[in-house]
Amino acid sequence: MARIRHQDTEKPARGKPTARASEEASQVRDPDASEEEARLEERPGLRPMRMADYIGQEPLKRKLSVFVQAARERGEPLDHTLLHGPPGLGKTTMAQILAREMGVEIHLTSGPAVEHKGILAGHLTALGAGDLLFIDEIHRLTPAVEESLYSAMEDGRIDLPVGEGSRARTMPFSLAPFTLVGATTRTALLSAPLRERFQIVEGIEFYRDEELAQIVSRTAGLLGFPISAKGALEIGRRSRGTPRIANRLTRRVRDFAQVRGRVRIEETDAAFALDELGIDGEGLDATDRRILVTILDMFDGGPVGVEALAATLSEPRDTLEDVYEPFLLQRGFLIRTPRGRQVTRKGARHVAGDDGGQTPPPTPQSGDPGDEGEQGELDL
Ligand code: ADE
Repeated sequence: MARIRHQDTEKPARGKPTARASEEASQVRDPDASEEEARLEERPGLRPMRMADYIGQEPLKRKLSVFVQAARERGEPLDHTLLHGPPGLGKTTMAQILAREMGVEIHLTSGPAVEHKGILAGHLTALGAGDLLFIDEIHRLTPAVEESLYSAMEDGRIDLPVGEGSRARTMPFSLAPFTLVGATTRTALLSAPLRERFQIVEGIEFYRDEELAQIVSRTAGLLGFPISAKGALEIGRRSRGTPRIANRLTRRVRDFAQVRGRVRIEETDAAFALDELGIDGEGLDATDRRILVTILDMFDGGPVGVEALAATLSEPRDTLEDVYEPFLLQRGFLIRTPRGRQVTRKGARHVAGDDGGQTPPPTPQSGDPGDEGEQGELDL
């Protein structure tokens, strides 16, 4: 588990230990990020450390700033907070900012890493007063671990196993007041009892192109490679509304620009590099286009159930649902109907250039057979 002690430049909340500066902040990883992305995010200064430096998500920042200020004024920990949204939008970064703004330590782990109750107990008992425990992919906790989390969240208590064999029993242990920040790609994946125990539930939305352009400019500056405003916007426009992708593409575009002997990334450099990388003008990559073309070619444009689609594409269902679909849905290339996914006219038109003149899908007739496995499933 990563643990950071935040430097606090402001008065700590009442009753809290004063935090001190530490280099540990640079060791923290977003469990979601690839090795390379994690390395980039480790660079001191790359992740915004304060709410004021965090670009975009204005309504969310306004609300969270109020909750932080109110908790600090009362000398209480921040209420348990659930952040939901597609991968790469900055849930981990926001949790780190919340800890820093509260002047407390953050302890980071993820649902799959908390394999059993003992691991959870280890994390919880290591927390100091007011500290923040961040659990990424919280929907992947096992039911047994999730259940022990309930008493921790509600009563500040956890049952610890003591003794062995026939003398084995559990003893209640009082925890220091703490804040749980959970992150999940979709709230629907969370059990209702867990969801209901969060007092703050907020979504992180896809970023606007101009916000991503600001992030690109900031990252290029930190990488020591200047970029024009139009160059940054070109990368921002093709980043699927996602800062992590914007940062990744910025590095790849920088590689192309460097090898072509440029000293600054211009719009044409960005466009050339992104074309070479197979990122089209709407930010769709080869897999996005393959999803649309497969639905059009193999399923007459849809509707098709997610299981059938995942099997045809040889992609895990989770990846399809968490990584690819949200953006395709948000940009109107795909819709979800009670009987499955369907490519829109916009989606069909978009890939027409790629697939040799695909005609738009027919409007579905009521009574069309959907995917057998998905009949009656309404949350598609
Ligand atoms: N890097 C990644 N996400 C960011 C954001 N929202 N603001 C600033 N820099 C970022």
